[in-house]
Amino acid sequence: MERKNLLIIGGGGREHAIIWKLAKSPHVGKIYCAPGNAGIAELAECVNITATDISAILEFLKNHPDIYMTVVGPDDPLSLGLVDKLEAEGFRVFGPTKAASQLEASKVFSKNLMQKYDIPTANYETFSDYSMAIEFVKGQKTYPLVIKADGLALGKGVLICENFEEAEQGLKQIMLDKAFGEAGQNVVIEEFLKGFEVSVLAFCDGKTILPMASARDYKRAHDNDIGLNTGGMGTYSPNDKYLPKHEEFAYDHILKKTVDALNSEGIKFKGVIFFGFMINGDNVKVLEYNARFGDPETQSVLPRLENDLMEVFEAVIDERLNEIDLRFKEEKCVTVVLASGGYPEKYEKHIPITLPDKLPEGVTIFHAGTAMINNQLVTNGGRVINISALGKTIEDARKKAYKIAKKVKFKNKHLRTDIAKL
Ligand code: AMP
Ligand code: GLY
Repeated sequence: MERKNLLIIGGGGREHAIIWKLAKSPHVGKIYCAPGNAGIAELAECVNITATDISAILEFLKNHPDIYMTVVGPDDPLSLGLVDKLEAEGFRVFGPTKAASQLEASKVFSKNLMQKYDIPTANYETFSDYSMAIEFVKGQKTYPLVIKADGLALGKGVLICENFEEAEQGLKQIMLDKAFGEAGQNVVIEEFLKGFEVSVLAFCDGKTILPMASARDYKRAHDNDIGLNTGGMGTYSPNDKYLPKHEEFAYDHILKKTVDALNSEGIKFKGVIFFGFMINGDNVKVLEYNARFGDPETQSVLPRLENDLMEVFEAVIDERLNEIDLRFKEEKCVTVVLASGGYPEKYEKHIPITLPDKLPEGVTIFHAGTAMINNQLVTNGGRVINISALGKTIEDARKKAYKIAKKVKFKNKHLRTDIAKL
C-alpha cells in the first residue's frame, strides 16, 4: 500500500488529535503541520507558517509535490477561503469552501438559512442599524435576551443579557465600539433557550451526512459553569443526555435538512459540520453551527472512532461517504483541559512544563498551546495541555484523566475539577 504524505493546518489540541489518529493509518506517510506545536512535532514535521497565511501555505505546497492532501483544522483560514484557493491551484483539500464555511462565519447567514428551511432554532431578528436594534430591544419583555455579533469572534461574540441595560450596553459594545471588529457590523438578537447543550460533529460530502458520537463541552472557565466563556475547558463523549430519540429527530430534521438547505442555495459542504444543540425535553434546537471539528470535542471523539480517519477524509473529498459505516468504541472518553492561569483573558507564556514519564493504557496527552524552547517544553497559549482518557464508564475515564492531570506540572496551571462529573 502506498503511504501518502499530508499537510495539516493548525496547531492546537484538535490538530494534535487529528494527526494522532491519522498517524495510525496504514495509508498515511509523512505528516507536515503548519504551524503545529511541541506535541505535534513528535508525530509530524512542523513548519513555521501560521494557519491564515494563505500565500505561504500555497508556496509550501508548490515546493512539496510529495504532499497528497491538505487538512484544514481551524475556522479562520476556512472563512478566508483557503480551501477555494488551494483547490483552484489543483491541490486536494479536506475542508469546506468559503461559501460553505459561512455556516459558522456568519450568524446572520446561518440563522436565515435555518428560518428559510424550517430547521429548529431560537426565534431571532437581525440588525445592521444600532438605533433599530435598540428600538427592537425596548419592545422585549422576556429576559435573558441573547445578542450575537455576526462574524467570527473567538467564541466571545455572544452576550446573554439579563435586562434592558445589559442589552443596550451589549449592542453599544458590539455595534458602536466595535469590540469584535467587523464581526459586529451586523447582530442577531435571539430568544434565550433553556436546557442542556450537546455537540455533534458530522462528516459531510455534500450529499451524505454521517454524525460522529456526541459530546459535551464545558465552556465556562470555572467549576459549576462560573466565569467567562472559553474555547472549552473539557469534554466527554458520548453525551449521556443525548438520547436515541434526540438523535433520530436531529438526523431527520436538522442534519439532513441542513445539507439539503445548503444544496438548495447552491452550496456544497464538504468537511465536518459541528452542530451545537440545545435539548429541552424532546426538543432539539440548533444554537450554532461550526464548519470544522470542535476543540476540545475532537479530543474526546476521535479516540473512540474505530474507522481509519484517512479513509473517511478520502471518502468525503471523493463524495462517496455513503460507502462508510462509522463505528465508535463502547468505551467512553473524558478530556480535561489544563490552561494557563488567567485564560481566557491575560496569561503568561513560556512557563516550563513537566509531563509524566509514562501514561496508562487508554490515556493520551494532546498538546494545545505548547512550544519547545532550548530543549525545554513550555506553555505557548491559553489552553496548554489536554488529557484524554478512555474508560469503561464516564466515571472510570474521568478518574484516569484527572490522575494524569495532577501529574502534569506548570506554574499557574488552571483546570476545572468538575469535567464529566455527572
Ligand atoms: P454560539 O457561538 O452561538 O454557540 O454561542 C456560544 C454559547 O452561548 C453557546 O454554546 C451557549 O452556551 C450560549 N448560547 C448561544 N445562543 C444561545 C441561546 N439562544 N440561548 C441560550 N444560550 C445560548
Ligand atoms: N468547543 C467549541 C468549539 O470548538 O467551538
